[in-house]
Amino acid sequence: MPTQPDRHAALEQYRRRSGVYDLELALFEPIRREAIAQLAPRPGETVIDFGCGTGLSLPLVRAAVGAKGHVVGIEQSPDMIERARQRVAIQRWRNVELICAPAETAQWSGKADAALFHFTHDLLQRPEAVANALGMLRDGARVVASGLRWAPRWALAVNAGVYLAARRSITTLAGLEQPWKELERQLGPMRSRSRLLAAVYIAHGQRR
Ligand SMILES: C[S@@+](CC[C@H](N)C(=O)[O-])C[C@H]1O[C@@H](n2cnc3c(N)ncnc32)[C@H](O)[C@@H]1O
Repeated sequence: MPTQPDRHAALEQYRRRSGVYDLELALFEPIRREAIAQLAPRPGETVIDFGCGTGLSLPLVRAAVGAKGHVVGIEQSPDMIERARQRVAIQRWRNVELICAPAETAQWSGKADAALFHFTHDLLQRPEAVANALGMLRDGARVVASGLRWAPRWALAVNAGVYLAARRSITTLAGLEQPWKELERQLGPMRSRSRLLAAVYIAHGQRR
């Protein structure tokens, strides 16, 4: 695997995967719930879901911010965001905005109260994507990142599982020891915890 995220490969990866993605993620749904609980969206707030994929986080976030809140999903894969669009249309949510663009160049003019990066390893390895994302947040905004990570080296079987999952969902293994490192460098101190035998992390912090 390359040492940098490969956007072309990622688009192809998610073009092929978009139809089965929601089923494949079922095992990780408790992690999503925990990450969103950590983010603690409040009624009336604006929350951005970076790398929102098929929109699996949208129902939980939308329920928390309510009809007066605002949810923005930013996603580079047209195939994945199309599924999110269908979800929004079926629910008739008027306060969910979806933007199909890489986080590096996406434009959104507001200042959000909170941001979620759920299983978005490639995005978090790109300093320019993190910088552009953080520029969309107000001072004090809450940030949660979660996703795959290497377990300790001796946990060979766990790391075999991380490797297999990574092969399917990301385009670089670089940074898997501490995937939130670049986010923390730009955001400020983050606290992290491990889940699923340390194959998954949930990290949180606040924009300075
Ligand atoms: C494993 S999926 C996670 C999707 C969603 N966050 C979820 O929780 O189900 C990773 C997503 O990040 C998107 N992605 C990767 N790099 C990105 C970038 N630089 N900008 C925007 N989206 C990106 C991929 O297209 C893919 O949909």
